Amino acid sequence: MKKITIAIDGFSSTGKSTVAKMLAKELDYIYVDTGAMYRAVTLFAMRKLFIKDGHFDKEGLIRNLFLVSVNFKLNPVTGIADVYLNNENVEKEIRTLEVSNFVSPIAAISEVRQLLVQKQHEMGKEKGIVMDGRDIGTVVFPDAELKVFMTASADERARRRYDELIAKGDDVSFEAVLENVQKRDRLDTSREDSPLVQADDAILLDNTYTNIEDQFHILLQLAKDRIYGRC
Ligand code: DC
Repeated sequence: MKKITIAIDGFSSTGKSTVAKMLAKELDYIYVDTGAMYRAVTLFAMRKLFIKDGHFDKEGLIRNLFLVSVNFKLNPVTGIADVYLNNENVEKEIRTLEVSNFVSPIAAISEVRQLLVQKQHEMGKEKGIVMDGRDIGTVVFPDAELKVFMTASADERARRRYDELIAKGDDVSFEAVLENVQKRDRLDTSREDSPLVQADDAILLDNTYTNIEDQFHILLQLAKDRIYGRC
């Protein structure tokens, strides 16, 4: 059966990864969460003190990027690949609001993007992949057979992220989460290198009022149409 590349881009907390995972599982494709890769580099920067007391030593991080290795390894319990920073599973550590607050400036650095995009190309070279992020359909795989661009209102996205963090036991306010969502939207869409934009040939999915199951079925149909050459 023909294998395709599926690129899912969009704003933060639009549920990209949830629906991308469901799609990958159904099609028996590899799933790659590229946001996790930018988060892992952010965690590296925080741990090595390139980010400290609100100060960010960008040049220091760039000089030390050769020390960063980001990989994925299958978690046999969840059936999904976890992200590893220098051979340490950091899946949990990268999901904090603190990492979310620093990740956009890190993702704006061209040297960081080059490092991670190279890795993303390697992972997708055999196709049979669902990759989610911000620049997958525009920069990483501009020839992807299926491109989807996901959006939802900022309030709805903040509510989803807030519920997730509270369920994990994090002590956060809704206002702080909303502010983070809005700030990241601004930074991700306005950066010079690979800004978040909808590719001309991407299908727009606004899921403010659409549940996950319905989104999954819409995307699965779109994928099957391409796999079986119906479009
Ligand atoms: O999807 P996420 O919220 O985990 O992504 C974290 C940040 O990483 C997001 O604010 C923008 C950045 N990112 C990016 O610039 N390019 C990607 N392909 C994926 C994420």
